[in-house]
Amino acid sequence: MLIKNPKFEISVMNKSQYPKNNLPEIVLAGKSNVGKSSFVNAMINRKSLARTSSAPGKTRQLNFYNMDNIFYFVDLPGYGYAKVAKTEKQRWAEMMEGYFNSDRNIKLVVQLVDMCHPPTKDDIMMMEFLQANGYEFIVVMTKADKLKKKKEYNERIENSKKEMSFVPENRIIPFSSETGAGLDTLKKFIEEYL
Ligand code: GTP
Ligand code: MG
Repeated sequence: MLIKNPKFEISVMNKSQYPKNNLPEIVLAGKSNVGKSSFVNAMINRKSLARTSSAPGKTRQLNFYNMDNIFYFVDLPGYGYAKVAKTEKQRWAEMMEGYFNSDRNIKLVVQLVDMCHPPTKDDIMMMEFLQANGYEFIVVMTKADKLKKKKEYNERIENSKKEMSFVPENRIIPFSSETGAGLDTLKKFIEEYL
């Protein structure tokens, strides 16, 4: 997967603003600060096409990144950021519902989970939603570089498989946007679904 000219296309809140074309979409879901925007940058080998931040809640809208007019990465706003107001959570839920009910050309959902911690209740809910609605999805375990001890790393992998036993094991993929670990496997997955 060689993307020559990745572009940020549009940041949207409402259905009426979605791109009008029918390009395949690879969707990034996950809690706030898990590394969704960093994932996009790693995939295209750019430092900052997608805006990242150490403060959670950076991406508040749906961002469409156009990959050579072949497909989109759709960076969804993160969930589970404790400090947001109730009205903001409501807005988030409406945006997500709006998106998943819009008959978009969704090929694959990349569900990101922080590898350093067990999946949150929200993570599990999100995956159950994806499964119940028949979306193809893979689980990307982000920030794998932070688990420096081999034993710790292996333990988290094994526990993750148990904690997400409803996900086939080969669909749980450790990843680091810092080191590029897992990048090749993920590119192959995405190519397969496009
Ligand atoms: P929201 O837009 O708030 O939903 O967050 P996001 O999921 O887009 O996260 P983002 O990519 O902005 O990353 C959040 C923070 O985690 C940033 O400080 C990143 O540098 C850091 N980060 C992301 N991926 C990795 C990783 O693989 N390893 C390490 N060590 N840090 C990472
Ligand atoms: Mg983001």
